[in-house]
Amino acid sequence: MKEQLQHVKKDFLHLVAKVTDRDALEQLKTEFLGRRGKLNAAMKDMASLAQEERKLVGAMVNEVKEAIETAYAEAIEMASKASLASKASGEWIDVTQPEMTSHPKGHLHPITQVREDLEDLFTSMGFIVADGPQMESDFFNFTALNIPPTHPARDMQDTFYVKGHEGVVMRTHTSPVQIRGMREYGVPLRMIVPGRCFRNEATDVRHEHTLHQIEGVVVDRGISFAHLKGVLEAVGKHLYGQETKIRLRPKFYPFVEPGVNGEVTCYLCKGDGCRLCKKSGWLEVFGAGMIHPNVLREGGVDPQTHSGFAFGFGLMRLVMLKYGIDDIRLFESGDLRFLNQF
Ligand code: PHE
Repeated sequence: MKEQLQHVKKDFLHLVAKVTDRDALEQLKTEFLGRRGKLNAAMKDMASLAQEERKLVGAMVNEVKEAIETAYAEAIEMASKASLASKASGEWIDVTQPEMTSHPKGHLHPITQVREDLEDLFTSMGFIVADGPQMESDFFNFTALNIPPTHPARDMQDTFYVKGHEGVVMRTHTSPVQIRGMREYGVPLRMIVPGRCFRNEATDVRHEHTLHQIEGVVVDRGISFAHLKGVLEAVGKHLYGQETKIRLRPKFYPFVEPGVNGEVTCYLCKGDGCRLCKKSGWLEVFGAGMIHPNVLREGGVDPQTHSGFAFGFGLMRLVMLKYGIDDIRLFESGDLRFLNQF
């Protein structure tokens, strides 16, 4: 009987090593340890044994049973690991798939949207996009632009001077970058400068202390007023449609000569006269002119060989007209109820 028991154990260990499938393993276990299994069959004659002998055989039965159960448990563990691995090898994760949970999506500020649109237009015409400091020296903001310290033209732009920094202002326009740009890049030059400017305004629906401008500068040999008009016309048509006309009327800016006020036909009434254009049919958009020889010289350009034009315009009014915004102070308010509409 002892031999028989050892056989049962050996047979199981032999067979279990060949089976890797969970169901088959379970079946094998039942075949050996089940009620009608091989172990019970081997124990069939136990009752007839002498008491001493029965004790010994009983211990052996337990040992065989334990060995079978341990081997079975190990085999099951291996089988489940193997099946996981084989399942995983058929699976893959698409790391490019967008996340399914949704996050609220932001968007660009309306001024940024219009600015980027204009940057695209100007770069398509061969302009570079440059930048300059918002905290600017009094020299670049005024003096180098042909506005000496005592000149009354300084009154045209009410200015923030910076406490504790003599000769430093918050720039009142993007024009100081005309000179910085000429010094930095030399000629020929085709450049726009979008950026923030600041004026000491009593704020109301039409006036804000922080404004956004785009400056344009072209300097080369033989640049004329006709080139200026052509570029402004292209900008006007881009902004307000192909049928837009442009009108230039004299206006004084110390850094240009001659200087003009650039107007486009009112896009609302197409020039007939309405509330928007105050019955004139025209909307004032640009300040512009041929760059003054003094300014060219400050930029390191010889006015004998080169000429150029410059223009500047505010972005905020364009955006207000485009979207029908009636209070300029909303732009810098950070109010989401306003911003979420764009
Ligand atoms: N800098 C002027 C302004 O802010 C606009 C301007 C730019 C005028 C360039 C002429 C040439 O009012």
